[in-house]
Amino acid sequence: MRKSILGLAVVLTNLAMLAASCCSNSESNATAVNSADATINTIMQRKSVRSYTSDTIAADVMERMLRAAVAAPSGMDVRPWHIVVMTDKSKYDELFAGNFNMEKFKQAAAVVIFCADTTVTRPPRENPDAPAVTTPNSIWRDDMGACTENFLLAAEAFGLGAVWTACYPFHDRMDPVAAYLQLPGNIVPYSIVPVGYPAGDEQPKDKWDESRIHYEKF
Ligand SMILES: Cc1cc2nc3c(=O)[nH]c(=O)nc-3n(C[C@H](O)[C@H](O)[C@H](O)COP(=O)(O)O)c2cc1C
Repeated sequence: MRKSILGLAVVLTNLAMLAASCCSNSESNATAVNSADATINTIMQRKSVRSYTSDTIAADVMERMLRAAVAAPSGMDVRPWHIVVMTDKSKYDELFAGNFNMEKFKQAAAVVIFCADTTVTRPPRENPDAPAVTTPNSIWRDDMGACTENFLLAAEAFGLGAVWTACYPFHDRMDPVAAYLQLPGNIVPYSIVPVGYPAGDEQPKDKWDESRIHYEKF
């Protein structure tokens, strides 16, 4: 009799634990779904914004966007980026000298230049005594793309508008930037992102095209 009461107690305890774990699983699933919704929504809402109000960007907001930028993945974790933030509009003319592409961005609250150190080497982080590695096969470009996109997504999340403008590999765009910023030869200006509060009502494009998605084989 005592044994069966004990047995019943064990079964009840297990049931209670199972119920608790189911409950916490469904709670954590709901949290994951909410968080996924927020993330996917930011990605789907991102669009290029090319006109801005005169509002400035708070320093802590800028820092959070920069932190998001450098959270990007990086081949062999070399992290080749250097990022220059400019907010002095009176200097934009010089920065964009001769770069017709940038004429329309002179109202941006900030212009963020994503630069790459093409020669950076690092000991592997998991083994600091091992020989240094450098980003192989110029994949620093991929790192810089990921870094730029992270910044754009963070800008979207803060209700800011931004646009990725190409710099590398166009010398007419790179040279004035490199000259103005006094970049050393191994530092390449990769992309330029004007950013500010949107003045217009740009909407994201629907780019979904099922024919571009392939399963198992092309
Ligand atoms: C590598 C790259 C270079 C780009 N260069 C420029 C540029 O020089 N000037 C510009 O106005 N937009 C530039 N864009 C923005 C694209 O024109 C824009 O992403 C595209 O039209 C799709 O629109 P969306 O960003 O609103 O989805 C560039 C985007 C990428 C990814």
